[in-house]
Amino acid sequence: MISIEEQRLARAAALLRAGALVAFPTETVYGLGANALDAAAVARIFAAKGRPADNPLIVHIDGEAMLATVVAAVPPDARKFIRRFWPGPLTLVLPRTGRVPDIVTAGLPNVAVRMPAHPLALALITAANVPLAAPSANRSGRPSPTTAAHVIEDLPDVFVLDGGATEHGLESTVVAFGVTPRVLREGAVTLEQLRELVPATILAAHAEGERVESPGQKYKHYAPRVPLILFARTRVDALLQMAEQQDQATILCIESDAVSLRTRTSRPVVSLGVTAADVAHSLFAELRRHDRGMLLVLAIERDGIGAAVMDRLTRAASTIVT
Ligand code: TXA
Ligand code: MG
Repeated sequence: MISIEEQRLARAAALLRAGALVAFPTETVYGLGANALDAAAVARIFAAKGRPADNPLIVHIDGEAMLATVVAAVPPDARKFIRRFWPGPLTLVLPRTGRVPDIVTAGLPNVAVRMPAHPLALALITAANVPLAAPSANRSGRPSPTTAAHVIEDLPDVFVLDGGATEHGLESTVVAFGVTPRVLREGAVTLEQLRELVPATILAAHAEGERVESPGQKYKHYAPRVPLILFARTRVDALLQMAEQQDQATILCIESDAVSLRTRTSRPVVSLGVTAADVAHSLFAELRRHDRGMLLVLAIERDGIGAAVMDRLTRAASTIVT
């Protein structure tokens, strides 16, 4: 007897080998996969997402042998990260081989690659027996999907493997290598964790710059259907004042702040969770849920995974009050 899950996995692998798209769970968010060695298949990803062609894709592999098909060289610092964090939510930007089509890397000499930890993702790559190019499985600009229902909401025609809600809830950390490792995108593996292995690891300048954009700056990432105003932790009074002025304001914050804010406003206060990891887990689902009024979000502390949460919130915000 073959289980329903095994049948769906076999069907998904066959679709991928035939050049079609399959959405699948990873430990971070759901990915929209295609055979990374097939340029025509990868083009379908850009079309389905409405993704700009100059934004390259992450290639997902199931181990060392497949790594060698897409990556030409692994510098020593990258090797240290691989040993500690793979399989897991860490993407490494490394020199590509000639087998990786230009469309995957947007013509760049390097390819972003990671080995996911989710058993269904690994089983799918192994069954398809090809590396999978896979961005997050959302329409471009929307919050990344953390459940199969989110994928179907954005991409109703895509075959989805359902693995339930994802563990981390936000995307992998992306690291490039030069004189020192540089974090291009903060994510589920924290800067502190990387520095334990390679102390010289830095946050790339553009990542810093993007996190301190001023009010009014328009972001095209992770956007909810309603305006999202992000308040610095020093601006609680401004948040409460705006909540009173808006009929349909919903306040989002970490549990410890929710407790005190509820004593100061009659507006709904939604707790995103007790820890920063809880907030990461629930954030994108919460951003998708709201389709009326306005979201007023109180910043969380930037340490640990809180840094990645704040990166996503900063990009999702229509206005930032600092
Ligand atoms: O957790 C994740 O990383 C998820 C799951 C599905 O694995 N994927 C994901 O993919 O978030 P996407 O496409 O939404 O984000 C990929 C990020 C983008 O910021 C992209 O610019 C960067 O990785 N990237 C991809 N290839 C690159 C390259 N060759 N050089 C520099 N950055 C690259
Ligand atoms: Mg994405």
